[in-house]
Amino acid sequence: MSDVFLPKDQRVSRELVLEEPAAVIQFSDLFGNDHPVELEIGIGKGLFITRSAINQPDTNFIGIEIRRKYLNMARARVEKRPLANTRLICGEALGFLEGYVADNSLSVIHVYYPDPWPKKRHHKRRLFGEAFMAQVHRVLKPGGWLLIATDHAGYWEHIQEVLQNQTYLESGERLPEDPQGASGLTNFAIKYQQEGRESYRTGYRKPVV
Ligand SMILES: C[S@@+](CC[C@H](N)C(=O)[O-])C[C@H]1O[C@@H](n2cnc3c(N)ncnc32)[C@H](O)[C@@H]1O
Repeated sequence: MSDVFLPKDQRVSRELVLEEPAAVIQFSDLFGNDHPVELEIGIGKGLFITRSAINQPDTNFIGIEIRRKYLNMARARVEKRPLANTRLICGEALGFLEGYVADNSLSVIHVYYPDPWPKKRHHKRRLFGEAFMAQVHRVLKPGGWLLIATDHAGYWEHIQEVLQNQTYLESGERLPEDPQGASGLTNFAIKYQQEGRESYRTGYRKPVV
């Protein structure tokens, strides 16, 4: 990975502000090319998406993050580099998929360390559920991947249940990839590695029909 920094006066906004009412985004218009598009949900401070975008210049990356504070940190990380293949959205992932993403348009969806919402009364806030899986299936290209990592045993059990109870995607041999070798997948992956905490990881694939 070669990391290049832009002088301040050459930096441009990589934030994509979603229009209301919702309308499907043509990714080829957004990026000006037909390269494959990967989505990362819950990018936090943006380490994974930044490294991935640097390492894979012929892939386009969209990152969505619900919290403005983290989105701004991720923006700072992305925008100081010449990453024309990256767009960041401040918003909620399920609503984004439902309103703005075309059928069969994403090659990978990355979900790393999603909020586990451990209290029973908060379980309804969890991302993984029937509605999410239906959208994932709709927006992934045939052969596209859903890649997941979590450190939370209770949420891992729930995710596995959701994955086993759906018939859209099949379990695959691919796992979330670390874009920079041993140093960790995301900010949370690095933190948990340093604490010696286990991560659970899996990959599911939309069948090629
Ligand atoms: C535990 S953090 C993990 C951040 C990052 N993926 C990492 O591994 O370092 C989960 C992130 O997902 C964001 N998030 C939670 N629910 C979301 C949703 N429905 N849509 C978009 N972002 C969400 C949170 O604000 C938070 O930044």
